[in-house]
Amino acid sequence: MRSLIDILELSTKELDELISTADDIIENPQKYAHKCDGKKLATLFFEPSTRTRLSFEAAMYELGGNVIGFSEAQSSSASKGESVADTAKVISCYADIIAMRHPKEGAPLVASMNATVPVINAGDGGHNHPTQTLADLLTIHREKGRFNNLTVGLCGDLKFGRTVHSLIAALRRYENVKFILISPAELKLPDYVKESLTKDNVDFVETTNLEEAIKELDILYMTRVQRERFFNEEEYLRLKDSYILTPEKLVNAKKDMAILHPLPRVNEISVAIDNDPRACYFKQVLYGKYMRMALILKLLEVE
Ligand code: NCD
Repeated sequence: MRSLIDILELSTKELDELISTADDIIENPQKYAHKCDGKKLATLFFEPSTRTRLSFEAAMYELGGNVIGFSEAQSSSASKGESVADTAKVISCYADIIAMRHPKEGAPLVASMNATVPVINAGDGGHNHPTQTLADLLTIHREKGRFNNLTVGLCGDLKFGRTVHSLIAALRRYENVKFILISPAELKLPDYVKESLTKDNVDFVETTNLEEAIKELDILYMTRVQRERFFNEEEYLRLKDSYILTPEKLVNAKKDMAILHPLPRVNEISVAIDNDPRACYFKQVLYGKYMRMALILKLLEVE
């Protein structure tokens, strides 16, 4: 039995297989409509979410399965003081697979060590978010047809943005991927992630200047400043609008640069860009559902 806590638990071969399955689901959805008949997914969300939770739920329904769960810690026994380990043991009696989001880094890992069914990390604090990375990878694959030879700009809150950490982990395994890390000095990529790049000799540069960096990029991954992880509201207010992508800033970008964002968007991308052919962030949402379908099939070992 396998869980998915960190994107690196999937080999690049397995990622390719998930992408092929997702492509096939997109082509032939009816083939998959009953693959999970009689199975239940539990969504345990200890932190607010719209798209990730509903994406998991829609994924399971489209496979013919059912969904149980809760969408805030207040409505679960955690509010009575139950441990994550106990919750995982209990829910294993009700569901075939668990998707867990938690504000504490490592909570889904603890759940996976105590559950008797697969656990999927649906975001743990400022740490990781592997299924968002699956959505990002399918988007990149469908837009660019490759993971090699890409210059990827990551812009915004690189410190607390867990989707950025997981995406870097996934992409750094491919040949000739260069990262341009665009953030205010206060929101730079954590050292542990930078060390993983240095160790693997992956090319990266840090900058504060989006306009300058944008010219080189094949992918621009915008992120929200993660308000809920700040200790100090004033600091958040000072940094929240550090980067706003506008049509003027796109003038120097490549004609086929893909713009991604894990959403929710606050101010980082002007709505004037939504109809630009380079804007991929709503497609990315749809692709996330297909990749979660592929992942559920894999972890449940459905043929
Ligand atoms: C991201 C998350 O929850 O980390 N959103 C998502 O999963 N779609 C990014 C964010 O909340 O800013």
